[in-house]
Amino acid sequence: MNIDNKEEKVDMEILIIGGGIIGLSIAFELIEKGFKVTIVEKDKIGKGASWVAGGMLAPQAEGLDGEFLNFCLESRNLYKDFVKKVEEKTKQETGYWECGILKLAFSEEEAKQIKKDVERFKNLGLKAKWLDRNELMKEYKDLGDEVIGGALYEDDAQVDNRKLCTALANYIRKNAKVLENTKVLKIEEKDGKFSKIITDRGEFTADLCVLSAGAWSGELLDIPVFPLKGEMLALDIEKEDINRVLYSSKAYLIPRSDFHRLVVGATQENVGFKDGNTALGTLKLLKGSIDTLKNLANKNIQELWYGYRPATPDELPILGESGVDNLILATGHHRNGILLAPITAKIISEYIAENKSSKYLELFSVKRFKT
Ligand code: GLY
Repeated sequence: MNIDNKEEKVDMEILIIGGGIIGLSIAFELIEKGFKVTIVEKDKIGKGASWVAGGMLAPQAEGLDGEFLNFCLESRNLYKDFVKKVEEKTKQETGYWECGILKLAFSEEEAKQIKKDVERFKNLGLKAKWLDRNELMKEYKDLGDEVIGGALYEDDAQVDNRKLCTALANYIRKNAKVLENTKVLKIEEKDGKFSKIITDRGEFTADLCVLSAGAWSGELLDIPVFPLKGEMLALDIEKEDINRVLYSSKAYLIPRSDFHRLVVGATQENVGFKDGNTALGTLKLLKGSIDTLKNLANKNIQELWYGYRPATPDELPILGESGVDNLILATGHHRNGILLAPITAKIISEYIAENKSSKYLELFSVKRFKT
């Protein structure tokens, strides 16, 4: 960035491309710091991949490791305060629930890997506990016949991504300029510095631009972000059916805290932007649900939907400098966009406001793809 004076910075106009959870969360933090923000979104803010996600906050159930695990754990730790701040500002609830996640094994091979993860997490001081089938049966009478056991990760959690996105979007509508149904066609630079965006509704300038356009980011800049389709569905449930997230290689089952909805996800297919729920995708999710808890066979289907994860070749996000001054990247969050919203918003907004560096801006820099 080439604006160094702090007071001048708060007067900066910031343009955010993409009104998903990452763009909204960055906007939220920047507005709280006193910046003037405009969000440009091709559809409606708060929708897109963020609306159709599951909302799991699951660094342990996802089996992550290394610095990416640390990054995700930091974000999981920030979540409680982040949603508290959003809830206080908007007077809307977000469905944040420290319900824990049970990761189930359907084969000896899966059990071996999960037990290894349990030991690895325990050595890192994280809560993790292996429970065998008999122990699980005490709590889940309808447990699928093929479940061998599972790991309980008590600190993995969930947020209702639709509620969180709605709250953030309402806040942003009141406190920022919002250009919806506005498709960015081109990001322009002049002399190595961001100059303007060209959209199907005209041109817009700003002092600084953040690209957080999710799976569509790779269409706007030469960065390796591509869509990874996921199909999902929801079932009607009752309170006694399931009390926490059940996660496995077959499906993940996320009961919302009002117990009227069980979110089931998700397929993962590299098929580009190919709209629709398929018969096979739906079959896999339904079979995965019933294989996990037999009584789900009798539940009504509430909704079917799909979305596009913003994937990168190494499955890590792309954050920070773009190579063009005053054009910042916050994209490529792959399977973890909802989880990573608080930490992404924190480090990107602190970088913009205070030039504050972060090891994660180095680790997840786009430079890693440029040889
Ligand atoms: N976060 C889980 C998924 O992307 O399916």
